Amino acid sequence: MFLTDEEKRMRDGAEGDAVAAAMDLLIRYSSALDAERLCDIRNVAGTMTQPSPVKARLVAEGGWDKAFAVINLDSDRDLTIPQMAVPTCQLQHGFGDDSIGVVPYPEANVLLQADGESFFGRHGVNILATCTPYQVGNLPLRGEHCAWMESSAVIYANSVLGARTNCEGIASTGAASLTGKIPCWGNHRDENRFGTHLIDVRGQRVESFQDWGMLGYFAGGVAGEDHPVITGDMSRPDLTELKHFGAAAATSGGVELYHIPGITPEMATVEAAFANRGALPEAVVYGPAERQAMYDTLNEIGTSPDVDFVLLGCPHASVDQIRQAAALLDGKRLSSSTELWIMAPRALKVMADRSGYTEVIERAGGRVLADSCPAMSRAAPRGTKVFATDSAKQAHYLPAILGIEAWFGTLEECVSAAITGRWTGGLH
Ligand code: F3S
Repeated sequence: MFLTDEEKRMRDGAEGDAVAAAMDLLIRYSSALDAERLCDIRNVAGTMTQPSPVKARLVAEGGWDKAFAVINLDSDRDLTIPQMAVPTCQLQHGFGDDSIGVVPYPEANVLLQADGESFFGRHGVNILATCTPYQVGNLPLRGEHCAWMESSAVIYANSVLGARTNCEGIASTGAASLTGKIPCWGNHRDENRFGTHLIDVRGQRVESFQDWGMLGYFAGGVAGEDHPVITGDMSRPDLTELKHFGAAAATSGGVELYHIPGITPEMATVEAAFANRGALPEAVVYGPAERQAMYDTLNEIGTSPDVDFVLLGCPHASVDQIRQAAALLDGKRLSSSTELWIMAPRALKVMADRSGYTEVIERAGGRVLADSCPAMSRAAPRGTKVFATDSAKQAHYLPAILGIEAWFGTLEECVSAAITGRWTGGLH
């Protein structure tokens, strides 16, 4: 593979052993991918602080330098981790200390994570602690090469922002953070950013938050790991709807990039989305029958109407989503048998606190929680058997992770279930 003089210097240790280990990892990774060169990047979203038993052991043995060397650089050598070479943020991780007494989550993890935040903060990692870094100030520009993890963030960066990243891993983002490099393949290259599947929305307008999630879930099923192009009868989505759409498409499939000509920035027309090659692929129709099928699939694990947990904010909620939930809960009280958690980026929780939304939600008996989520931390209220959510992604994953039943519906249906303890949702 081609290496620049700068990259050869890094490989040969001119910037220290840790950077050399990072470059070695990137060269091995490139070779496995048949990538011919590396891209320059200046935006990494990875994970260093997420607690785990292996990490706890490594930190006990050799501190956070050791944990980063083994987990983030795939190296057994004794390395001293330098400052991050490029802007780097921590994505979602475990729950923080304000969750103690609320979330059944080991206190040892909270303490380990706090220690990790302190170490990596000193090394230049921005502790954003969210799966939606784009909501709290990490907004790569169109065409900017990045190294991001977290499927729902990757699809948003590629599709809505027009930035360029593959769905990276813990080690590749670790190596990228010390070098400002990532293999130049897949979504980084112009020729790989065109559409592959055409989806035509017909017969029923897609316009609600729930609709966008179900359409995303459908698109992921159709396109798998390829690039769906969506046309047809849709309202103009906002940030939260595209956040939901992308997370769902990355869940039912492995979609990292989609185009909605006229809405997402990269392909102005359907023809352009297919490289102006002439004939378009035959469209897959998303109509009332397909919509009903998505709804049924996302609700197939729900049998009992007795809801003991309601989860909102997957991907992490925007301030507007928290405000909407607060408006529905104002002056109400949750059922004594139901808990309600809203997951949010910590920076946006501060805004929700200052706006008075958190107080309204807490007065009703609900919680706004930051940094993590039940799927990420495998933690839900004790005794949960049936949960309800407005997130297609969470409805897909949480039943398998925690062995519980799921209902998928609208924000209003979920809040109603939290107040009454009963699921009364249905497709409208
Ligand atoms: Fe975020 Fe957890 Fe959903 S990390 S995307 S809230 S599964």
